[in-house]
Amino acid sequence: MRPIDIVGCGPGHVDYLAPVARHSVEQADVLVGAGHLLALFPEVGSQRIEVRGSMSVILDQLELLRKRNICLLVSGDSGLFSLAQLVVRRFGRKNCRVIPGVSSIQVAFSRLALSWNSALLISAHGRIPKETTACLAQYDRIALLAGDTVAIAWVADRLVELGEAYQVVSCENLTFENETIRPFYSADKLRQAVFPARTVLLLLRRDLLL
Ligand SMILES: C[S@@+](CC[C@H](N)C(=O)[O-])C[C@H]1O[C@@H](n2cnc3c(N)ncnc32)[C@H](O)[C@@H]1O
Repeated sequence: MRPIDIVGCGPGHVDYLAPVARHSVEQADVLVGAGHLLALFPEVGSQRIEVRGSMSVILDQLELLRKRNICLLVSGDSGLFSLAQLVVRRFGRKNCRVIPGVSSIQVAFSRLALSWNSALLISAHGRIPKETTACLAQYDRIALLAGDTVAIAWVADRLVELGEAYQVVSCENLTFENETIRPFYSADKLRQAVFPARTVLLLLRRDLLL
């Protein structure tokens, strides 16, 4: 049986899609993914299953379709805070072919011409991070997947505790026409701002950007 392809689709713009990802999609009998990811491939004629609610329902559907060539689309990189691991756990590593993609975090750092070798990566996507301020203070660069108000409030509180040595840079709608990069030096300004769901926040020591 052909393995399930789990394809990292990059941050959203079609230019950031790897040829190997497109090739996998073209071979698929069944394309599975969020609506905005399926929309990256309007010309591909395979059966489409849109991921909306419970992932366990989708996993059961995949089980029934196992004999067909399945391609699961995930956003950014498939190895970074991704649904990919749920699928790998259910079907086994040997039965999955994971294709990497460009992560939103990679793009965020590249927009500031900063490396991310030593960065702490945190997901606040649908969860409140557990990292303490003392833990954060050990890093000069921290990237957060942060698209909702709870995440923004959490970062604002940490910015107060970390003090003036740090700032936040928001990286919104990366790779899209409305991409926006904004610096924030105060927690109050951060709390007052409105962010789209597609937001990476970088918490950076200020001297990195001098
Ligand atoms: C479920 S996580 C998936 C992360 C993905 N695996 C990656 O490598 O980017 C979704 C989060 O990624 C971030 N994200 C995805 N696409 C983005 C974009 N184009 N611009 C900014 N942030 C983005 C947002 O923080 C969003 O809440």
